[in-house]
Amino acid sequence: MPLTRKAYRAAILHSIADPAEVGIEASYEYFEDGLLVIDDGKISALGHASELLPTLPADIEINHYQDALITPGFIDTHIHLPQTGMVGSYGEQLLDWLNTYTFPCESQFGDKAHADEVAEIFIKELLRNGTTTALVFGSVHPQSVNSFFEAAEKLDLRMIAGKVMMDRNAPDYLVDTAESSYVDSKALIERWHGKGRLHYAVTPRFAPTSTPEQLTLAGQLLTEYPDLYMQTHISENLKEIEWVKELFPERKGYLDVYDHYQLLGERSVFAHGVHLCDEECARLAETGSAISFCPTSNLFLGSGLFNLPMAEKHKLNVGLGTDVGGGTSFSLLQTLNEAYKVMQLQGARLSPFKSLYLATLGGARALRLEDKIGNLQPGSDADFLVLDYNATPLLSYRLKQSNNIAETLFVLMTLGDDRTVQQTYAAGALVHQR
Ligand code: GUN
Ligand code: ZN
Repeated sequence: MPLTRKAYRAAILHSIADPAEVGIEASYEYFEDGLLVIDDGKISALGHASELLPTLPADIEINHYQDALITPGFIDTHIHLPQTGMVGSYGEQLLDWLNTYTFPCESQFGDKAHADEVAEIFIKELLRNGTTTALVFGSVHPQSVNSFFEAAEKLDLRMIAGKVMMDRNAPDYLVDTAESSYVDSKALIERWHGKGRLHYAVTPRFAPTSTPEQLTLAGQLLTEYPDLYMQTHISENLKEIEWVKELFPERKGYLDVYDHYQLLGERSVFAHGVHLCDEECARLAETGSAISFCPTSNLFLGSGLFNLPMAEKHKLNVGLGTDVGGGTSFSLLQTLNEAYKVMQLQGARLSPFKSLYLATLGGARALRLEDKIGNLQPGSDADFLVLDYNATPLLSYRLKQSNNIAETLFVLMTLGDDRTVQQTYAAGALVHQR
């Protein structure tokens, strides 16, 4: 007998495949009156309420929701914890934005009390927005990652994070050295990687802020420990790309810098990739690397429009990222709202089911966690959301005109935000309630 068993009855929707591979209809399952059964923090059954209810004991506790949709928890494949306090900073593009706003804000994380305070705020904000797993950049200070993992561990969240490695081209107050970044990352890996549902990501900020020695040691960490993640930025901004060419003239291009230092692989996630060429997409796909598509950031920092159809052509793993504080919202619903417009500006479409895939199963695949999160298949972690059709007066009125789940889903992504997330569950426990 399971120690805790609970059931949740509502409309239920999840992705089971990439619409680009199987077509829209085969990419999802929808239960208009569905039932989700949780045993000890894992999903044990999913189906139509009429079919599952007779199989359950009469005394099982059932939470029944009207006008609500259960979905998997959202997965944010790129976000910066120490930029929480500077989201929405005015007027600059990437390189000036980093120097003017980002680096001063991140410098405060040398203070553990500050790191603790922001980690609490940051995790609350993730959960308020329905994000149950995130791939997180800390600051250069190891304490930023300790504070984050301490807070995530208390709630038994599945989270991935790493200390930024940056040993050049940043203010003196914010750089490490190749050697200290290696030693500090190693200590964090030993303490956190594989503890509960926590994972570590080796985190060189981007090629311009790491010396060849530091990139070499980042690659070495990846070979020393199994299943480590690697996260960095790539080809976000045209001036950034020119700068990388100047700093690494011997390399073929931006991706080739990371390739040379053996940073590509199945657990490597590259944020942005707005200006990647065909050849680079092919190499990313060949190595099983993933891209984090960050539309609110790409628009806010004037970086450009991510070419999702090109990524699909190469069968590249793509997840969705908020990139707060370059991105302007913790909400993956709002991020999808902007993703849709990014596609519109390129004469392409983004179906609501592809959007659902990007925010859930696509993110899980980018992180190689699709057997644990990203959809509601039995055996998965019970990380799920209850989305409220009546979250705002306009949403409520608009959804009354909806004719089907495709329309409902699209409207949730267009009008929805943190207010839409009525409840967030992680490992079967309620971790946010509006
Ligand atoms: N490239 C290097 N660092 C950063 C960062 O903090 N944010 C974004 N958007 N791009 C970067
Ligand atoms: Zn970023």
